[in-house]
Amino acid sequence: MEKKRNGFASGFGFIMAAAGSAVGLGNLWGFPYKTHEYGGAAFVLVYIACVILIGVITMTCEIFIGRRAQANPITAFKMVDKKIGWFGVLAILIPGFIACYYSVLGGYTVRFTVNSFKGNTGTFGAFASNGVLVTIFTAIFIAMAVFVVMAGVKGGIEKASKILMPTLFVLLLATAIFSLCLGEGVAEGLKFYLKPDFSKLSGTEILAAMGQAFYSLSLGMGAMIVYGSYTGKEVNLVKSTATICVFDTLVALLAGFAIFPALYHYKATMGVMPENIQGSKLMYETLPMVFESLGVVGKVVSFCFFAMVVIAAVTSVMSLFEVVCQFVIQKFRVSRKKAISTLALICFAISIPVGISAGQDMSAEGAIKVFGMDLLSFFDTVTNTVLMPVCAFFACVAVGWLLGPKKVCKEMEEDGQKLGFFKPIFSFMVKFVTPILIFVIEIFGVYALVFPSGKFSSNGLGIALFSYGLLAVGTAIYFIFFKNKDTGCNADEE
Ligand code: PHE
Repeated sequence: MEKKRNGFASGFGFIMAAAGSAVGLGNLWGFPYKTHEYGGAAFVLVYIACVILIGVITMTCEIFIGRRAQANPITAFKMVDKKIGWFGVLAILIPGFIACYYSVLGGYTVRFTVNSFKGNTGTFGAFASNGVLVTIFTAIFIAMAVFVVMAGVKGGIEKASKILMPTLFVLLLATAIFSLCLGEGVAEGLKFYLKPDFSKLSGTEILAAMGQAFYSLSLGMGAMIVYGSYTGKEVNLVKSTATICVFDTLVALLAGFAIFPALYHYKATMGVMPENIQGSKLMYETLPMVFESLGVVGKVVSFCFFAMVVIAAVTSVMSLFEVVCQFVIQKFRVSRKKAISTLALICFAISIPVGISAGQDMSAEGAIKVFGMDLLSFFDTVTNTVLMPVCAFFACVAVGWLLGPKKVCKEMEEDGQKLGFFKPIFSFMVKFVTPILIFVIEIFGVYALVFPSGKFSSNGLGIALFSYGLLAVGTAIYFIFFKNKDTGCNADEE
């Protein structure tokens, strides 16, 4: 076995770290609230189909590109084809953007964990609009991730993920079992969650499911390229990808089992369905109410639940930091310590106005807004709706068209992998189906942004132009500064 200077020590460590990146707020919060919003079981089925059709294939591409290069995304794309090094720019920019708002949301979860015993009910609005408090908790959250990333890939990210991910799973399982044992209302909750009503399904729901699958699997943001670059040939790529996808989906599904029975139990015992289930309200307003209705036990459950959400969010944000950090280390030859501290400070500085803006938006004060959106939603839309599909599309095109599935499968087989029936399916999907589906996500996503409910929105157009402008600027920077220069690889980090 070749000696790797920097990377995961084991296949299990890699899977846990990648699962840590994938399992995040998107699973524990996004998935349940979207399932509720988009009609229950039918949405769940479409979601699973998207994970299989788009997720597995795209993730295979991303991990593959990273692993064969043993380098950051820019170098990795250069190694696919000298002409497409600029594909890697987005893979580094996007995580930087996401980290700035994800940290604010992470800060919320830390606060809700520590406040579990005092009770969180009705505190969300006041907390979120308290800029100082939000900033403090954001700082705590960032510090936790920095602490891990600073210790390196093997000694930090891998070690932490190997402990945190199983812990998360146990906590989630316990919460779900508890919820399923609540008695009254559970059956109704399960019916909503598990009995599909396909009449509720339209383009909007399908698109939402596609987008959710993407986000949840951490695709289109460099994370899987980077984590892939830290694995060696001894790791079975297809099996690992499948395991990560199954794990991520299982966590999302279990989150549904934890939340829906509890919601309907609340409805059965209190006589009303909690009102605010949309968006941030599900996690920060409704669930605290549900927990409180369960008395002392509810406090313990609340603590376990939010601690689990913190774990999910920290392991995700670690991967975001690592993407940018890896590039900075390799391109500018600085130490890990220096790279991550600088990046964390920048991220923290940006997260302050983001947190304040999001809080103001909720309390309807004169808020900091960009294109009619609070900064948090703005960052989220720029990355999620516009740029991430582009980045994932690049990965698919690199593998499906530039390297070509034949060469890719041959390389995998040379590494000792048996591909079996995966080979023809992958070859067909990666060339045609998956890139087309991603393209569809992009087009419809941007269309819905520019023409929300069919009417033109200049703000929506502004956001779309801003996002593509960012891509253009990043690409220009690449051609001016990075194209003909060495952009480094993993072996450059001591
Ligand atoms: N996949 C994560 C989630 O489900 C989100 C995430 C986005 C993680 C970006 C890392 C990077 O919440």
